[in-house]
Amino acid sequence: MKNLAKKAEIAIIGGTGLEKFVKNAETVRIGTPYGMPPKIFLTKLHGRRVAFLPRHGVDHTIPPHKINFRANIYALYSLGVKRILATNAVGAINVKFKPSDIVIPHDLIDFTKFRKLTFYDEAPVTHIDFSQPYCPQTRRFLIQNAEKLYNRVQNMAVLICTEGPRFETPAEIEMFRHLGCDIVGMTSFPEAVLARELEMCYAAICYVSNMAAGIQKRLSAKEVSIIAKQVTSFLQKILIETVRVLPQKRECPCANALTDARFGNKQCSKASFRQ
Ligand code: HPA
Repeated sequence: MKNLAKKAEIAIIGGTGLEKFVKNAETVRIGTPYGMPPKIFLTKLHGRRVAFLPRHGVDHTIPPHKINFRANIYALYSLGVKRILATNAVGAINVKFKPSDIVIPHDLIDFTKFRKLTFYDEAPVTHIDFSQPYCPQTRRFLIQNAEKLYNRVQNMAVLICTEGPRFETPAEIEMFRHLGCDIVGMTSFPEAVLARELEMCYAAICYVSNMAAGIQKRLSAKEVSIIAKQVTSFLQKILIETVRVLPQKRECPCANALTDARFGNKQCSKASFRQ
């Protein structure tokens, strides 16, 4: 498919295995003030313009702690994206969750250490509201479609994002359980907050690839990719159906996230971050 205007209203950020979004797609490279994101694929699904961004690069060569989240989110923003659907592999801390479960988290804890976590590094000081870290309206549509198309869906979960690239220790997982976490991954943060800072909706659809450290004996990246292969076709179907039914009108806090986010009477405008 060629000559799609370099615009998209919805983006899917995904790992490997979501080839359907890449087939017949036009590719774009978009430079940003924050660096170069991986190749982005532009396609049409149900008549809607969709961008697909492989977070780890096309050949899965970018580890979680090296992902340039600001470049990725800024590139999607400059394509005109208003809603982001993100996929993540996660380990289950909650023992009621099982490998291959699909999980739509509702809340998030940041346990990363070295990541660039904001577009607003300079004055005017900006404090974004993050009381609902995942877009409630987008989540609702993801849950509806996941429950329609898959039989093991967890529709509430607290996700903790660790720095990686190593998996966690059993003691860390035990601590996270005491903190109320259900699932652990390495890529939701700062992706979710950067999207909110640019007033884009963001929701995640996760799949459990393993029980977290200490619950099962040993963890491996191989196991993650085996489960990914098993759930990918369902994830694709859920995402495509969600793209079909997502309303254009946004009824959520995301669209006005910068309103009242600054001290004094500074006008809130996305243009105030460094271009
Ligand atoms: N921990 C962190 N990230 C992960 C895991 C895990 O157990 N499984 C898949 N991604």
